[in-house]
Amino acid sequence: MSPQPVPALPAIQALAAADMAAVDGLIRRRLASDVALINQVSEYIIGAGGKRLRPMLLLLASRALGHMGPDAHQLAATIEFIHTSTLLHDDVVDESDLRRGRSTANAVWGNAASVLVGDFLYSRSFQLMVELDSMPVQQILADTTNRIAEGEVLQLLHIRNPDTDEAAYLRVIERKTAILFAAATELGALLAGADSATRQALHDYGLYLGHAFQIADDVLDYASDATTMGKNLGDDLAEGKMTLPLIHAMGRADAGTCQRLRQIVEQGDVDALPEVIAAINEHGSLDYSRERAREFARKAEAALDGLAENDALAALRGLARYAVNRDH
Ligand code: IPE
Ligand code: IPE
Ligand code: MG
Ligand code: MG
Repeated sequence: MSPQPVPALPAIQALAAADMAAVDGLIRRRLASDVALINQVSEYIIGAGGKRLRPMLLLLASRALGHMGPDAHQLAATIEFIHTSTLLHDDVVDESDLRRGRSTANAVWGNAASVLVGDFLYSRSFQLMVELDSMPVQQILADTTNRIAEGEVLQLLHIRNPDTDEAAYLRVIERKTAILFAAATELGALLAGADSATRQALHDYGLYLGHAFQIADDVLDYASDATTMGKNLGDDLAEGKMTLPLIHAMGRADAGTCQRLRQIVEQGDVDALPEVIAAINEHGSLDYSRERAREFARKAEAALDGLAENDALAALRGLARYAVNRDH
């Protein structure tokens, strides 16, 4: 139960606006390289915006515990660089051609440039990080990036595997997505000098929120449209990726439909998207997935119970709700 009203996204953005502007300035200054292609590709993807949710989470977590300063801006930029590098790599692996409403970097410059500029951003994030000269910070980020890489490989192992179940799906999304959210909020707590219980609470909040966020993303992949999302509908199916809506529908479908869905997944047959959407609708699989996402969002909010209330803490609650109600 939250004793103060939970703000919606515009109010949260307004609260974080000055700090986010500082982070944006830092991101842009620290993109620079004397290799022209690096500037072109990195400014292209960063200039397209993105929701900047992870840096906002770090700033708000830190502020909720009474701390704000240049170190928070620096780590917020670090986290966004890590995120951006994973997107460059992810679009190569997923063979996606639309991101943030633009052609993906791999569609414009090719896979090699995307992977290599992704590596540049990834190592630039470590340059930013070490400037803070904090071993606990380095430990969290070294572990986090390593787990993300494991998550991506784990996901690869499940590609076109129709036997992937909900438990396996949750193991993948914990690592590929939720761990970075947890790092963002835990780092916010660390900078604020929080005790270990509070640090754990902020870690748990981020971890649950990250699960909710990825499940919502996987719902949008079947339920939204390219203009709203800025990404193509059906990318997950095209890739043969077993996400929660499909896993749920396959568990409920009759033997014949199930056999057909297995075949579609094995072939990554995106032309069969309408058939898959029909099965997903028939079994209420989007509603089921949305409810699972809401459960994780509720757990995220509950992790904050007991912390001293303030505007930034209420904003964190608001972001947990936004993560599951967003349309892109
Ligand atoms: C996309 O993350 C990758 C996922 C974890 C689903 P975002 O949806 O935060 O991407 P941007 O930064 O807003 O474009
Ligand atoms: C998120 O998974 C991948 C990362 C953590 C980089 P998705 O493959 O669903 O992300 P989108 O939909 O391409 O943004
Ligand atoms: Mg992808
Ligand atoms: Mg997706």
